[in-house]
Amino acid sequence: MTERHDAVDVIRTKRDGGTLSDDQIDWVVDAYTRGVVADEQMSSLAMAILQRGMGREEIARWTAAMIATGERLDFSGLGKPTADKHSTGGVGDKITLPLAPLVAAHGVAVPQLSGRGLGHTGGTLDKLESIPGWRAALSNEEMHAQLKDMGAVICAAGSGLAPADKKLYALRDVTGTVECIPLIASSIMSKKIAEGTGCLVLDVKVGSGAFMKDLDQARELAATMVDLGTDAGVRTSALLTDMSTPLGLAIGNGNEVAESVEVLAGGGPADVVELTVALAREMLAGAGITGVDPAEALRDGRAMDAWRRMIEAQGGDPNAPMPDAPHVEEVRAEADGVITRLDALGVGVAAWRLGAGRARQGDAVEVSSGVMLRKTLGETVAKGDVIMTLHTETESRMPRGLAALAEACDGAGAIEIGDSAPERRIVLDTVGTNV
Ligand code: URA
Repeated sequence: MTERHDAVDVIRTKRDGGTLSDDQIDWVVDAYTRGVVADEQMSSLAMAILQRGMGREEIARWTAAMIATGERLDFSGLGKPTADKHSTGGVGDKITLPLAPLVAAHGVAVPQLSGRGLGHTGGTLDKLESIPGWRAALSNEEMHAQLKDMGAVICAAGSGLAPADKKLYALRDVTGTVECIPLIASSIMSKKIAEGTGCLVLDVKVGSGAFMKDLDQARELAATMVDLGTDAGVRTSALLTDMSTPLGLAIGNGNEVAESVEVLAGGGPADVVELTVALAREMLAGAGITGVDPAEALRDGRAMDAWRRMIEAQGGDPNAPMPDAPHVEEVRAEADGVITRLDALGVGVAAWRLGAGRARQGDAVEVSSGVMLRKTLGETVAKGDVIMTLHTETESRMPRGLAALAEACDGAGAIEIGDSAPERRIVLDTVGTNV
């Protein structure tokens, strides 16, 4: 087949600061997916995009071209509104687990296609796979049936959705081209638009444990994604939320499931509850449901009932206890004072090295490995108090886990004890909110 463009011309256009035409974009994305454009050509183009940027119309066209390489799901026959949430990833971010059943308990279908973790941010599927019997892989028919019946599904995104992104994301990961707002926004939104949700709430994390280290960058990413969703007919809004310190007390897999169940039982750490309720309110408003307090469904057991049905529908045992790791170390306060820093990245890397995360795609994660915080940012401690415990299934991992805490913040350490507590806000800003 004769190709209608030449990859080198497309690369040169962007390298020299030009605007890619619609046809160049359609062609290069499709030709890359077909294997006609080589990896080295696409990595060169990705680097040119990272350096030169893309305009709003180019990003929208790039996103549409990625969607066009695969299938689109259609939930219009469900007879109920659909709403989904996407988080850009953080440390201790288990919010999807209580959130999906909480929103479903209000009659909204939640098709939550999730991923596995890579690097220091955990993956929702890895956490849920701590539950014996639970199955991440569902066919489109199974997903549809579960949404119709009980309203919430958390499952693996099938390979049919935006295959161009799957290939491009793997390439970006090894070519230093992940940190690029047009490419991140189009990557996330191509999958979410193809998934067919009517409403989407983005949780854009800001801080050391997140992709976006500062609020301005996060605002730009959020606005780019909100524009893409809105232009594609998806009611899209974003909350910008704090990721300078871990969310909740549990960082890992099984321990995050246990903490989510506490939230569903009406308890759990205040920050996890606050963010779950804020995101639920936004999703419900986007789905046209206002005037309800989602926190009530956590208190009265409706969200827990939905959780149990959701887990059972995917073969999981909601009563199974989470296992304890055989090797545990305590990290203690070195002085009296107030915890003025408990760095998300440092704790996330520690949990990852302890076995909660994977070094390479396809590696297994350890169910009971991770970190449990015993004190949090702003708490007063006395010298010798236990601030956190490190847990691992593989004893030889412990020294590297401990070292991650010492190496954090350019060697200043993940924990700092000082005089006065910084104020912590969970939701820092919103973009395009429906509430
Ligand atoms: N998550 C995605 O799905 N894509 C990106 O580019 C970054 C985070």
